[in-house]
Amino acid sequence: MSSSTTNFDDNIVLVGLPKAGKTYALKKLILPALGGPSWIWYPEQRDDRLPDFVRSEGWQVVRDLDQLKYGRALIYPRDRSIEEFERFCERANNLSNLTLVVDEAEYYVGKYKIRSPSFAQIVNGGRPRGVCWVAIARRPQQLHNDILHGATHIFCFAFDLPGDLEFMSRWVGPQVWGFLPPDQRKAAYRHLTTLPPHSFVYYNKDTNYRGVARL
Ligand SMILES: Nc1ncnc2c1ncn2[C@@H]1O[C@H](COP(=O)(O)OP(=O)(O)OP(=O)(O)O)[C@@H](O)[C@H]1O
Ligand SMILES: [Mg+2]
Repeated sequence: MSSSTTNFDDNIVLVGLPKAGKTYALKKLILPALGGPSWIWYPEQRDDRLPDFVRSEGWQVVRDLDQLKYGRALIYPRDRSIEEFERFCERANNLSNLTLVVDEAEYYVGKYKIRSPSFAQIVNGGRPRGVCWVAIARRPQQLHNDILHGATHIFCFAFDLPGDLEFMSRWVGPQVWGFLPPDQRKAAYRHLTTLPPHSFVYYNKDTNYRGVARL
């Protein structure tokens, strides 16, 4: 991939179907590039489904906010409510030099209202204070406009519904139609390269760079 895709002191969105490769990219590409303190909100309830990288040295894995320390941490919260997420974001909002990763972001963000006021503050004003965010979602059309507009780096993994592809095509470019077999695309998109499993279309909104890759 181009070096223009590896500077991640900015806000990031990863979207795609279940099992498309979002968490894999977080591990292989995004967290290594970020390097610094990161808190991952991971509302998965089974500890055998946590990403493997959190078992490595330097990661705290916690279930309750009172155990959470500044550094590299994944929280798979016992309480995954909006209220608990708000408390999590409130703590992050008082810090600087931190990346907040939110999995299942559509649940906490919402299309019409960011349900957590502290997360809304981070989304709209975190970056100048050194708090960046990574939103991971399966349903991009459910994400609030502030997320869609605030992301500099967009990683679009596979979708299989034309409605989602239409939406993502407007956002990151027509290459996303490559996630469908050619015979299921509109004629105008049939010439585009068919994308293999786990690939993604990347768009950098600042530089207007677009590309297709697979890790
Ligand atoms: N580029 C890749 N190369 C090899 N294996 C991959 C790649 N990307 C993803 N995988 C594997 O595919 C599986 C699903 O990937 P991953 O967990 O990243 O999906 P996801 O998009 O986060 O899904 P979910 O929405 O369910 O969390 C994992 O076992 C992962 O290791
Ligand atoms: Mg995942």
